[in-house]
Amino acid sequence: MPSTVKFQDIIVPTPGFGAMSLSHGYGPADEETSLKVLAKAYELGCTFWDTAAVYGMGHNEALIGRFLRENHIPRDKVFIGSKCGFDIDFEKKTNNGVTNSADHINKFIELTKERLGSYPDLYYLHRIDPNTPLEESIPALDGLKKSGKVKYIGLSEPSAKTLRKACSIAHIDALQIEYSPWFTDHEHNDLIAAARELGVTIVAYSPLGKGALTGAYRDRASFASDIRGTIPRFSEENYEGNLRLVDAFASLAANKGCTPGQLSLAWVAAQGAIPIPGTKRVERVEENWAATDVTLTEEELVEIRKVITEAEPKGARYGEVHLKMVGL
Ligand SMILES: NC(=O)c1ccc[n+]([C@@H]2O[C@H](COP(=O)([O-])OP(=O)(O)OC[C@H]3O[C@@H](n4cnc5c(N)ncnc54)[C@H](OP(=O)(O)O)[C@@H]3O)[C@@H](O)[C@H]2O)c1
Repeated sequence: MPSTVKFQDIIVPTPGFGAMSLSHGYGPADEETSLKVLAKAYELGCTFWDTAAVYGMGHNEALIGRFLRENHIPRDKVFIGSKCGFDIDFEKKTNNGVTNSADHINKFIELTKERLGSYPDLYYLHRIDPNTPLEESIPALDGLKKSGKVKYIGLSEPSAKTLRKACSIAHIDALQIEYSPWFTDHEHNDLIAAARELGVTIVAYSPLGKGALTGAYRDRASFASDIRGTIPRFSEENYEGNLRLVDAFASLAANKGCTPGQLSLAWVAAQGAIPIPGTKRVERVEENWAATDVTLTEEELVEIRKVITEAEPKGARYGEVHLKMVGL
């Protein structure tokens, strides 16, 4: 895969780095190790970073801010995407659900700035609030761009219809979606097609299938108590059958001479998306970044597609807890 890619009017390094698990989602993280993980990403040139206000209820943005500050990193050396859209009470550490009101957007961008030490380059709505009209949220988000606070704006997990309507109000620069050989849902619901048609850059989250495709999580006990324990694709009922895809991926990767995770990242990149894998381990930052050395031929892409289609993993991307939180 190429080591850089076009993001709207600039070139950014790929794969990027998703910082979420340093504060949220996959069990506790050690702060000093997390700083080393960020340092390794920076040292490698893996500087397209993703965070959000909700990750660790502000902790994740503050961690990145601390890293940049303590290491005197010039702000333009790292591209930072962050997100608002959840009504978080940072003192009580509670998430009161999704909101996209103009007040929320204008308030949260300043809180993000305080924690990061500067405005992010890209600001997304993390989830779409069914109760705030796009006529209110999109101009508010675009206002951050017009005022020069952020350079780019994005939506995370909208429907294709929402993306199309949002783009009719203001240009949306980035679409963040779950996309990997493990989850190809958005290939079938017009969202990826809409982004391509509208010139919106696709950023792929959970590009390792939340770890599944690396082959490191064969045993459900290794993740049943974290966020994955609530996701139907990882359920007791589905997971064992879904390991078919993991096994097939492992064998393709062995033939290619790379790791299954690297093959997954190279496949995501070959679909025209920027993968943002996350890890709490320094050595895995290196492994994931080295996916830049994996180039897939047309024949290999056809073979991988065949494997994805035939293995057909089962179970939805999100469980009840999450759907309730985002008002679905
Ligand atoms: N917009 C959204 O709604 C949304 C949702 C989820 C995530 N995201 C973003 O996307 C980023 C990545 O997503 P993600 O963390 O959910 O999933 P991911 O990158 O697909 O997978 C992360 C999991 O894979 C493991 N892992 C990473 N590299 C590995 C390797 N080389 N070998 C074996 N295991 C490896 C990690 O464990 P270790 O830490 O132990 O290595 C972790 O459990 C997040 O950090 C976040 O920024 C956005």
